[in-house]
Parts: sequence; structure tokens; C-alpha cells
Amino acid sequence: MAVIGIDLGTSGCKTVLVGRDGVILASATAEYPLSTPRPLWSEQDPHDWWRGVVASVKAVLAQRPSEPVEGLGIGGQMHGAVLLDGAGQVVRPAILWNDGRCQAECDLLHKTVKGLIKETGNRALVGFTAPKLLWVQRHEPKLWKQVRTVLLPKDYLRWRMTGEAVAEMSDGAGMLLMDVANRRWSKKLLAACHIDESYLGRLVEGTEIAGRVTAAAAAELGIPEGTPVVGGAGDQAAGAVGAGCVTPGFTTIAIGTSGVVFTTTKGYAPEKDGRLHTFCHAIPGRWHQMGVMLSAAGSLQWYRDTLVPGADFGALCDEAGTAPLGCDGLTFLPYLTGERTPLCDPLARGAFVGLARLHGRAHLTRAVLEGICCGLVESLELIRSAGTKVTEATVTGGGTRSAVWMQMLADLGNVRIVQRAGADAGPALGGARLALIGCCGVPVKTACAPGPIEASYTPDKGRVKAYRSVLARYRALWPALRGYCHAVA
Ligand code: XUL
Repeated sequence: MAVIGIDLGTSGCKTVLVGRDGVILASATAEYPLSTPRPLWSEQDPHDWWRGVVASVKAVLAQRPSEPVEGLGIGGQMHGAVLLDGAGQVVRPAILWNDGRCQAECDLLHKTVKGLIKETGNRALVGFTAPKLLWVQRHEPKLWKQVRTVLLPKDYLRWRMTGEAVAEMSDGAGMLLMDVANRRWSKKLLAACHIDESYLGRLVEGTEIAGRVTAAAAAELGIPEGTPVVGGAGDQAAGAVGAGCVTPGFTTIAIGTSGVVFTTTKGYAPEKDGRLHTFCHAIPGRWHQMGVMLSAAGSLQWYRDTLVPGADFGALCDEAGTAPLGCDGLTFLPYLTGERTPLCDPLARGAFVGLARLHGRAHLTRAVLEGICCGLVESLELIRSAGTKVTEATVTGGGTRSAVWMQMLADLGNVRIVQRAGADAGPALGGARLALIGCCGVPVKTACAPGPIEASYTPDKGRVKAYRSVLARYRALWPALRGYCHAVA
């Protein structure tokens, strides 16, 4: 007996088959292309996602052909806009979470919607769905006339599987169309965005059964007709479920291309200026807050590929450990793809500032590592100022393997950093866990138990103090460079 978990990522789709005991029995991935037809645009063809899902589901089933599948849960890239006409056909490529075309529509929403942050828990950001819909209405009005259904990426997959247009709380909150406190669509935002509620799916919780696999989809996927599919979650909430972050105060820091500081909260408590994302959690009755930086390990990757091609990441990080704390005045700003938290600025740009002849490669690498940590600590501090006491954070993602870097994060954030067994399995495991809860009756506590601690990094009082000036220096730079970056962007 097993369940399937799917993570609909931006570069590919990862599928896992998970036993009732929570152990991953098989996994497979399938890749698909990303299209950037104009500056700031980022799109994908939803049919490519479906092909990826079919290929990866078949691949995991081929590894364990005799395992009966009891349920399925999907986690996926958030905020995208999938537009369908009355016949259920996709009318244009999906506009993705990392698309930056709709700043004017965000400004418009801030001008027209009173109490936007209170209602939605967030500022209007170019990544979110609502301003994208306004953009289509304003720039592609003929096409918008055909639209009858608006779905998030993972909900489009469920629609293909079950024929049901259903949205789910954690991902739905990232559309900027929900009254997040009350876990329902917001009449105020729907009116401001000229969206009829019938265009949006019925809202369900992440653990709720949202539909059953149709005969046609069953034939394509190779799983039984009638298999239940739960609400699932946006990839960040699904990743948190996968890492065991479902109890209030439990905090994770995910370092992949982007960097996400995520904490589970008991109630709805938006940050007053909406600089943090405040969304529903995938677990009923819980919410979460997160700060998202767009280029975390993505900055390190850029640095390595551009300035030290071919170098080993681990060796680079070790070498960085030989440079002094604070890099003799060198600061790196990691805003290579604009920034969300805390700047909310798609035109932000990165920088090395304070270069001197004395700086060598170790300094440069260390400045990149310190800059990324500073970006993450900005989110951590906002989460703390919004009322959550964070003394420990579980790290996940490929960027967390370096001990030098993790100690830096512990010292800069004044937070104990822990690495846990299995925490990296990510949103696909989260999707499977939601299916275990919703389809197999496994209790939340059992399904989402965090793995045992394998390593930890404790903040050192002296270094915590020394890093305060590094953080202050980092914070002072953006206001100084903003005008220049905007002029050149
Ligand atoms: C979260 C976010 C990303 C995307 C793509 O707010 O934008 O996590 O979901 O992974």
C-alpha cells in the first residue's frame, strides 16, 4: 500500500512513491522547458507539465509495479496563472511565479484596494496571480474574453486527473485573491480584479480529498480509476510538510536557487507592511509566514560559474572560511534576479561593494556567502518581529551542505541551525504525506514527524556581536544603490 506525491517544479517534475509508513519506495523526475520570450516574462506550456507528470508517475510505478496506490497529493510551483476557456482548453502559456511583467498592475491594486495587506496578508507582488490576471485583461483583452477558469499550476494537474476545478488553501493564498484569515475567496479582491468567483476552483484544505482519478487519466497514468487526490499544497508549504514543519514556531530555511525562511503559525498574523508572505498552511487550522529571497544558492552558482568556473562548491566554501569575518569591508548584495523579501523590488540588482587590492578569492566567496546569509536573516528578523520566537531552524536544500556556511548562518541569524535526516525530500514527499493523512487516515503528527537531528550549529556569542555591523553595513547599501540600480535596470 502506497501513495504518490508529486512536485511540479519549474525545471521539472519530481514524483515519489511513499509507503504507508512514510518511507520513500521509488522516485523519478522528468524535465520540461521554460520560455522567456521577452524581458521579465517567464512562461511554460501546461501540456509539458502533464507530459512530465505522466512520464514520472509511470517511472515510479515501473520501479514498484505491485504496490497498490491508495492516494495522490501534488505540491507545485506557486502563483502561476493557468487560463482555460469554456471547453477546458488552455488559452495561452501559463504565466509563472518568476515573471515580472505586472508591476503597473500591482501598483494599481495598492491604489484601489483599501486594506489589501490586512485582507490578503501580503503586498501585491509581481510574482502573484492577481496582478497577472489584471495584466492579461489590460494587454490581451480578446484572449481574456475566452477565459472561464483560472487555476494554479498544480491545480491544473489535478484538473487533468480528476476533471474537478479545485483550489487549495496554501497555494490559493498566494494568488492574492483570498481572505486568508477566513480561508475563503475575498469578495473585495475578486471585485478589484474583475474575476467572477465561478472562474476559481472550489477551495479545499491540503489534506481534503478534492477529486478522484477519471478513467481517461487512469489509463494515461497507470493508476486505478477512482484513486483519491487530496488538495495538496504550494511547493513551499508542501516542502515544509515534507520537513516536518507543521507545529507553531517550527522554522525551516530552504537554500536552493531561491532562499525561503518559513515558519508555522497558530493563527493569522500578517506582518504590518506585508513584507513577509502570510499564507494558509497545508494543514487545516494553521497558517504560515515566509520570507522569500530570489537568488540564494542561485547567487553562489552565478559566482562560481562566472568567476571560478569548474570550482567545487565545497572547496570554495572551505576556502571562504579562511577569509576574516566581514571580509575586510567587502559586501555582496545577492539581488541578481530582483528581490522579494524585504525589498519587494523586481528591479533590484546585485553588487560587490568595497573592493580593494587586498581582497582575494576567499574574500569574494565569503562575501557572497555572508551576503546570502544577510538576505535570509532579513526574513528571519521579520518573522521574529511579527511575533514568532525563533531559536532553532531546520535547513533544507542543496545549499546547506557546507559546515562553514551553516555556522555563518547560525552566527549571523543568532539561531541554532539543525540538519535533520530526510528533511531534503521536499515538496514531493510533502504531497505524499498530505495524501497519507487525507486518503489513508494517518494522523498529522505521525505523517509529518520531523526526522532526527544529524548535525547542528550553535551561534557563538562573540561572532553574533561581530556580525551585527556586517548586517548593518549590508542593510545600508540598498538604499544607497537603489537609484543607480533602477536607472540601469
Ligand atoms: C514561493 C515561490 C516559489 C515558487 C516556485 O512564494 O514563489 O517557491 O513557488 O518554486
